[in-house]
Amino acid sequence: MGTEKNNPFRYGIAVDDPYFIDREQELKDIPKWLKNGQSLVIYSPRRYGKTSLILKILNKLKDEGFKTIYIDFFKVTSRRRFTELYFNEIIKQLTSWEKALRKISLLTKRIRPVVTLDNQGLPNISVRYEDGSDDVDMTEVFDLPQKLAEKKQWIVVFDEFQDVEKLNGESFEKELRSALIHHTKVSYVFMGSKMHMLLNMFTHKNRAFYQFGKLLELKKIPKNQLIDFMEAGFNNSGIKYIVGVAGNIANICNDIPHYVQYLAAGAWEEALENNLILDQSALGRAVDKIITNQTDYFMQQLEELTAHQQRVLLAVSVENKNLFTASFAERFHLSPVSSVQRSLQKLLKKGILTKHERTYFFTDPFFKLWIERELS
Ligand SMILES: Nc1ncnc2c1ncn2[C@@H]1O[C@H](COP(=O)(O)OP(=O)(O)OP(=O)(O)O)[C@@H](O)[C@H]1O
Ligand SMILES: [Mg+2]
Repeated sequence: MGTEKNNPFRYGIAVDDPYFIDREQELKDIPKWLKNGQSLVIYSPRRYGKTSLILKILNKLKDEGFKTIYIDFFKVTSRRRFTELYFNEIIKQLTSWEKALRKISLLTKRIRPVVTLDNQGLPNISVRYEDGSDDVDMTEVFDLPQKLAEKKQWIVVFDEFQDVEKLNGESFEKELRSALIHHTKVSYVFMGSKMHMLLNMFTHKNRAFYQFGKLLELKKIPKNQLIDFMEAGFNNSGIKYIVGVAGNIANICNDIPHYVQYLAAGAWEEALENNLILDQSALGRAVDKIITNQTDYFMQQLEELTAHQQRVLLAVSVENKNLFTASFAERFHLSPVSSVQRSLQKLLKKGILTKHERTYFFTDPFFKLWIERELS
């Protein structure tokens, strides 16, 4: 029996085959919509697999000859930075950077790309503002994909788009939207994990992007598919697992794809140290290692909370429904209800909890485990 040495599980980066599973419907629908010029808003809680999915789709579309652009707004710290990243991505789409530069220079007047060659002769793109100031209308930059598009649609993805708020309030948002609304040859995808912020942008009448794209929620991967994937990974490495262990991993991780791969990777390593046997105690050791590695970080997160917020967090680890009732407040000594509300709001804002379909859950299931061990 051949034993594979490489861990069959991956986390911490966007994944593609053979680490990518499920999403069949999305892989069918999303490219179809985008090719038709339909813009989309894709949202889910953190670490469900948005970025992996869209990058896989962009690769496929690229193979079919579409021009694709991916911008992560987490990296966009200023208007200038946006422009640099945008120029960079656009230039990559065109056949040579010299040609690209010429084309773009014909289409921009005040904001222009400048290329300098690094010591290896590779082009480095920066931005020059012809009027000196970088506080200028950016329409000519936003319009580039539309003006450069030929027969085929361009596809532009803005990941973590809610972070657009970092750029001087809503004015960037408004400017962007007034340009994009005229783009017939570009389909846009807006994505993000701060669901409340993102959905506000697209569903509130007074916001610039009101009803701009089709809303699409990315769900978790079904438990049985996660289990099949894990069991195949163990089987291919010659690991003997006890019945139900993959299901346990999925349960501990609340079926969140990132955490499932994280713990499965740890369990795989433990099995290698355990004569290729994955039993409950090997799984227990994998969990312990993950928690131990993050103790300092968890501790720091907890210390930043008020005593009341800490108690609310502990209460949510026990019971995550009907949190705004007098009986909940009483049961966990958290009265009055309004104080529970305030603390929950803070925990959501900090990203420690996530709210979804009227329930609250720990964004990081290992933080939950740690809290349970620490505080109970
Ligand atoms: N389709 C998939 N099949 C298997 N595992 C997946 C899949 N999608 C995501 N994952 C797992 O989840 C991890 C996180 O994925 P990804 O970064 O795409 O999620 P995300 O929703 O963009 O996260 P974030 O909210 O942090 O931006 C991956 O590294 C991988 O371990
Ligand atoms: Mg992401």
